[in-house]
Amino acid sequence: MCGIVGAVADRDVTPILIEGLRRLEYRGYDSAGIALLTAAGTVERRRAQGKVQQLADAIEASPVQGLRGIAHTRWATHGVPSERNAHPHMSEGQIALVHNGIIENHERLRAELKAAGYVFTSETDTEVVAHLLNQCFKRSNDLLKAMHETVSRLHGAYAIVALDRREPDRLVCARAGCPVVLGEGEGETKGEFYVASDVQALLPQTRQFRFLEEGDVAEIGPRGIAIFDAKGQAVDRPLRESELSADAVERGDYAHYMLKEIFEQPRAIGDTLAERITGNRVLEASFGPRAKDILPKVRGVHIVACGTSYHAGLIARYYIEQGARLPCTVEVASEFRYRRPVVLPGTLLIAISQSGETADTLAALRYARELGYLATATICNVPESSLVREADLVLMTRAGPEIGVASTKAFTTQLAALSLLGLVLARHNGMEAAIEAEFVRQIAHVPEVVEKTLALEPKIREWAAHFANKHHALFLGRGPTFPVAMEGALKLKEISYIHAEAYAAGELKHGPLALVDEDMPVIAVAPNNALLEKLKSNLQEVRARGGKLYVIADPNTGFVSEPGTEVLLMPEHIEAVQAPLVYTIPLQLLAYHVAVIRGTDVDQPRNLAKSVTVE
Ligand code: G6P
Repeated sequence: MCGIVGAVADRDVTPILIEGLRRLEYRGYDSAGIALLTAAGTVERRRAQGKVQQLADAIEASPVQGLRGIAHTRWATHGVPSERNAHPHMSEGQIALVHNGIIENHERLRAELKAAGYVFTSETDTEVVAHLLNQCFKRSNDLLKAMHETVSRLHGAYAIVALDRREPDRLVCARAGCPVVLGEGEGETKGEFYVASDVQALLPQTRQFRFLEEGDVAEIGPRGIAIFDAKGQAVDRPLRESELSADAVERGDYAHYMLKEIFEQPRAIGDTLAERITGNRVLEASFGPRAKDILPKVRGVHIVACGTSYHAGLIARYYIEQGARLPCTVEVASEFRYRRPVVLPGTLLIAISQSGETADTLAALRYARELGYLATATICNVPESSLVREADLVLMTRAGPEIGVASTKAFTTQLAALSLLGLVLARHNGMEAAIEAEFVRQIAHVPEVVEKTLALEPKIREWAAHFANKHHALFLGRGPTFPVAMEGALKLKEISYIHAEAYAAGELKHGPLALVDEDMPVIAVAPNNALLEKLKSNLQEVRARGGKLYVIADPNTGFVSEPGTEVLLMPEHIEAVQAPLVYTIPLQLLAYHVAVIRGTDVDQPRNLAKSVTVE
């Protein structure tokens, strides 16, 4: 899940590469590096531990220029974050190479290459690839052939870009399991060619892209792009124009991307719903041309996802089971892909993913094809992603680029999309038109009520001050708001580093109650639903043990603030179908403000990365 970028131009490519890395920093940010082919025909490298800014400082202190270059921002897998382990890795001063992914057979290859006399200077699996490419080059004197031969020896997942001083006119790259996009300059940048992990990295240069497919090897040079499939046959990958604008990833006046993204939610949810609903029904065609054939045949659903997207799946189970009356299981993709699930006829596999590139989720989707599913579907936020290209049915969330590592608007837009899917499935399973119309009305109202909920921010900021010096927090919910509590706990731990757990409130007395004392704040999500009275009893159990309660409640639930209990009332009654989306908002804001008070790196929390393209 590192970020890679490369460029070939008639001008110094250093600024293109550094800007690209800044835009890819969400993929990893523990070290960064750049390698350029200089006018003197040498390969010059600068690397730095830490963020891209540290690299930019290193380049300022020791400038370097070149018309061809590659760069990398790292999220460590093999070897600690350090300058020595930072990419690009080199072989004998000839080749420089950057890599995203994991080479599983690196140990064997390393032993082989050491025996052949290659000297290793890092603990990374990537350095193995640099030496292997060099070894292959010496056999054929052709960098492209050498890349084909190299990848035929690699097991694992990779996106690779390399340059070689013996072939100064091209960069070569390869894709297996990790995304690679090629960019073609236009207008002022015409004649320039680029390669990167995603289109965002290159948007300041171009909006014209070709996407490598699995097993592809390609070269970019001053004369253009050539792409070959796994068998070495020249192939054409269509040129597509990205709809993203370069400033979609600007932070504006917000202190952090995460805050900007929290406040974008009314717009993002509105966009996700727009054109998918009429006044009274969900438009089935929103899921793609095959939806009308596939969705009526669905008899059950399996959902796979990771992280925050997994929480969206847990909530979707309520839409699908209670709403559509179809059996639904939800599982983290890393577990699913190594089980042999029993797939009954008519089962739809749904992969939920913001990025569409999460390695485990993508592997789960591919695995599903062998297992006899009716079809696969994805709920995804990145139109050009692998999941979108490979699933049978697609519903795009329209959150726009999400930069903060802690997912916010991607989650609530996933919920919006999943609620629509639940309604289409329910219709096929006999839901009456009038009931669907009522649900559609309630869902369409969500952007407005999210807007009103965002206005609670000042009160939540006050609450945050109470959490800032705590070491632990407990989140409680019941029914569909239990996964909301899980998401709240995940947000808090991700960005404030406070240990947080979520429990189904009914489970409290089966263990976690033992932890409750005045130092353990308990946050409860309390919509006005059939489980309200049971939740109230659970909360009494907390109060009776001296635990301090923070309750986020529906206005007519009867909760009032009193010593030991703080209550935040929602702006209006929240309907069941709206509750997961709307109750998430205060929990996002709480995590955000606690993190700000604690002074953590909100947008790029330690040890994490936004896009996890390794297992
Ligand atoms: C990482 C991110 C999370 C995200 C998860 C799944 O862990 O930090 O925010 O929920 O990956 O990512 P996906 O892109 O598949 O939704």
